[in-house]
Amino acid sequence: MILAIETSCDDTSVAVIDANRKAIACRVASQVKEHTPFAGVVPEIASRAHLTNLPQVYESVLSEAQIDLADLQAIAVTAGPGLIGSLLVGFNFAKALAYATQKPLLAVNHIRGHVCAYQLEHPTPPFPALALVVSGGHTHLFHVDAQHRLTLLAKTVDDAAGEAFDKLAKMLNLGFPGGPQIDKLAQQGDASQFRFNPSKFSDGYCHFSYSGFKTQAMRFIEQQPEAFQASQELRANLCAAFQKAVVDHLLDRVARACDHYPFQSLILGGGVACNSELRRRFSDFGAERQMPTLISSPRFCTDNAAMIGVEGWRLLESGELAPLNQSADMSWSPFDQVDLLRTTPLSNASN
Ligand code: KG4
Ligand code: ZN
Repeated sequence: MILAIETSCDDTSVAVIDANRKAIACRVASQVKEHTPFAGVVPEIASRAHLTNLPQVYESVLSEAQIDLADLQAIAVTAGPGLIGSLLVGFNFAKALAYATQKPLLAVNHIRGHVCAYQLEHPTPPFPALALVVSGGHTHLFHVDAQHRLTLLAKTVDDAAGEAFDKLAKMLNLGFPGGPQIDKLAQQGDASQFRFNPSKFSDGYCHFSYSGFKTQAMRFIEQQPEAFQASQELRANLCAAFQKAVVDHLLDRVARACDHYPFQSLILGGGVACNSELRRRFSDFGAERQMPTLISSPRFCTDNAAMIGVEGWRLLESGELAPLNQSADMSWSPFDQVDLLRTTPLSNASN
């Protein structure tokens, strides 16, 4: 078994994962209450809360798994990317544990963890796979081969998709984190009432971009602020149109990538993979293309240590151990190579 620790942003999580990639125990201490007054994650508050929460979550996971340290083969921990203060709390905790127990330390890339989370619940899919990772900090499209080498096909040039959801929720005073609130409200709305246009790129690549959607939403609200304050229906319509635009943009890139590469399966991960419209349309797309489509349960889509343990197992099996003098890296890139997706004649859209 591997003990895994995740503290890259505002969730403190510890898990125990066995060699079959099953989560024996996985707990998450959320910091939503601490950050809600600020409608966003405050890095200083996040790292202090990790300091308080981590020892408690660690103790409760060991007792739930009914194991002690001697049963562990290694300690896996998120080493980046993320908020540096938050990363350091988990990373130093893991280093101390590895030193004290003389167990190997495994430094895991957080985004690779999101790509690997499917293994907790799904059998190995056929490769190459297309993986879409959409979270509060990242929007990445990867080509994944059988050795789990990642080739970057596209990423966001500005905001992440989850960040865009959170910013719209803030504009509409819906609470934090915003994604789940928008998802809920959108279900009562009529997406045809507002039209969002995706950003256009003249360099010939299929980047993702979300800040334009945020600006367009702000304009709609500024045009009739009192009406938005008074009408739940209007807010629901805006949320539905915004969510549809975000999902359209994601699926446009997914479709183009599938036309370009002979993918055998599809993987969806990251916190935004909890979104009901994205889950439905991603799996409809997979069914249309007759490809196995792997979407994790919501608890393994948002930040969790179980996914860190899964990627930790790969590192342990390939002998990629971290030295104890390694440090966390807040901008650690997850991919092995880059082959950016170009616009193809697939659609006439010029973006
Ligand atoms: O992966 P995650 O837990 O943390 C990061 O690595 O960023 O993702 C958190 C993000 C937040 O932006 C949150 O608003 C978004 O995931 N999210 C959702 C939903 N649930 C969480 N976005 C849209 N719809 C949801 N149902
Ligand atoms: Zn994440």
